[in-house]
Amino acid sequence: MRITLLVSFFLCYYYCIYITHASPNCLEDQQSLLLQLKNNFTFLDRKQLYSPIIHEIISRSTKLRTWIKTTACCNWSGVTCDNKGRVIGLDLSGEHIIGGFNNSSSLFSLVHLQKLNLNDNYFNTSIPSGFSKLEKLTYLNLSMAGFLGQIPAEISQLTRLVTLDLSFISYSTKPQIPNLQKFIQNLTKIRKLYLDDISITSQGHEWSNALFPLRDLQELSLYNCDLSGPLDSSLTKLENLSIIILDGNNFSSPIPEKFANLKNLTTLRLSYCGLIGTFPQKILHIESLTILDISFNLNLHGSFPEFPLNGSIHSLLIGFTSFSGEIPRTIGNLRNLFELDLSSCRFYGTLPNSMSNLTHLTYLQLSNNYLSGTLPSTLFTLASLEEIWLPFNQFSKFDESINVSSSVLKALSLKSNNISGRFPTPIYQIHSLIFLDIAFNRLNDSLQLDGILELKNLIALDLSYNNISINVNVTNVGHISLPNIRYINLAS
Ligand SMILES: *[C@@H]1O[C@H](CO)[C@@H](O)[C@H](O)[C@H]1NC(C)=O
Ligand SMILES: *[C@@H]1O[C@H](CO)[C@@H](O)[C@H](O)[C@H]1NC(C)=O
Ligand SMILES: *[C@@H]1O[C@H](CO)[C@@H](O)[C@H](O)[C@H]1NC(C)=O
Ligand SMILES: *[C@@H]1O[C@H](CO)[C@@H](O)[C@H](O)[C@H]1NC(C)=O
Ligand SMILES: *[C@@H]1O[C@H](CO)[C@@H](O)[C@H](O)[C@H]1NC(C)=O
Ligand SMILES: *[C@@H]1O[C@H](CO)[C@@H](O)[C@H](O)[C@H]1NC(C)=O
Ligand SMILES: *[C@@H]1O[C@H](CO)[C@@H](O)[C@H](O)[C@H]1NC(C)=O
Repeated sequence: MRITLLVSFFLCYYYCIYITHASPNCLEDQQSLLLQLKNNFTFLDRKQLYSPIIHEIISRSTKLRTWIKTTACCNWSGVTCDNKGRVIGLDLSGEHIIGGFNNSSSLFSLVHLQKLNLNDNYFNTSIPSGFSKLEKLTYLNLSMAGFLGQIPAEISQLTRLVTLDLSFISYSTKPQIPNLQKFIQNLTKIRKLYLDDISITSQGHEWSNALFPLRDLQELSLYNCDLSGPLDSSLTKLENLSIIILDGNNFSSPIPEKFANLKNLTTLRLSYCGLIGTFPQKILHIESLTILDISFNLNLHGSFPEFPLNGSIHSLLIGFTSFSGEIPRTIGNLRNLFELDLSSCRFYGTLPNSMSNLTHLTYLQLSNNYLSGTLPSTLFTLASLEEIWLPFNQFSKFDESINVSSSVLKALSLKSNNISGRFPTPIYQIHSLIFLDIAFNRLNDSLQLDGILELKNLIALDLSYNNISINVNVTNVGHISLPNIRYINLAS
């Protein structure tokens, strides 16, 4: 008897503990606050509707539909509780909520919240200042929430924030943070700060110094924030920075050499920044660097250094700058390279054979440079390469001996080069091609239509302005078909 009691006591003890951990019982007040929140939201739970606010068909919510009285709120989609049944996380991203949310909302009574994500909605009301009541927040994500008006200063009271994302918070007017220094001075725990498309309008040393209290900052994104220059080297005092995104601000300055001291840097994005001067080559030697985008800085000069073995770079985007020089043989050391864009620069010389070692390369964009020489046949054997864009260069020869059997190439453009002689027949074997442009070269050949017909996936073909004739001599005209073709240019 005694033993049975004891056993059942322990059974119950462990069983009950287990139940509590698996799905904590939702506290009654938490449940009713969430239900009020839901009841006041305007969202779609039945069918798809046309929204006059966003001018498009919007689909229905998925998470809010699981919020029903008869189940415990800790099991609802988007809701996270602690083991006392208090709501500590709320993820309502992508719920297509189109209104019914303001400062008097019951959301601001969920004071245990640590994580709140309202990304991708259309609240269409001014940004409530009530967020400051959620003192325990460590994560606040209001990106693309579709609010109106200004960023409330009260957000700067949320001193426990580790992640703050206010990117593209408004779809209509661009909100402002008039004093960045004041706004973030007490947010010293922040590691990820995303303020894209908010007008900050301050000068280089001002906004860089304003960030200085954020000693743990790892990710900084200030895309299109109306910042002005110069790009200040004081930013590099934040040694933990691994992601820096500053595209679309007009700095009119060089990139300070000190950026190369950021030993944890993985992503540096500075496109459309009006950068000038010479790009510090040492940045390309940062071991952790995976993404570099400095494209569309027309007056930024530079050239490539020798690349060390096993570089981690996977995206190298330099297009529309004043970079020049040769592409070094050591580019083959960038074994992780996935996309390379050097379009509209001033590179010359030949493409190094070592590029055959770039087995992850998917996108090669070298349009509008001064590259010459034979096209290396090894390019066509790269297992991942899907697009080769080489128009407006000075390539003169296409290696006839290339083996294209393993090619996965979808787009090949050799427009406006200097290629002469016969049409390169190996191209017929690249059956994956959907876009082929060899216009404006000096090819001199008479083609059999059958060859071109092997390219069953072609959508666009341009052979114009060569000396090419096509011999339509197929026995069964019924078989002539390129099922997807939409655009053929055979002018001249
Ligand atoms: C807040 O929203 C509720 C529900 O949509 C509405 O009844 C109330 O008038 C609003 N309050 C303010 C101050 O706008
Ligand atoms: C929310 O809805 C409840 C009824 O469900 C109402 O009593 C309350 O005033 C509303 N609050 C807000 C802020 O809209
Ligand atoms: C904000 O939420 C969206 C959607 O969940 C996510 O893609 C984005 O990365 C989040 N931002 C941050 C800084 O975590
Ligand atoms: C930051 O904290 C200090 C000290 O608590 C306070 O005096 C100041 O007003 C706070 N700044 C902001 C912008 O909230
Ligand atoms: C480069 O990577 C290869 C394969 O992972 C490895 O064997 C080699 O030691 C590495 N070389 C250097 C210099 O890190
Ligand atoms: C490819 O890399 C290997 C190993 O680093 C090297 O020996 C070889 O020469 C490279 N291939 C070319 C064509 O440079
Ligand atoms: C083009 O090819 C034909 C036939 O092979 C040849 O007679 C002609 O000279 C070539 N024209 C040029 C410009 O190379």
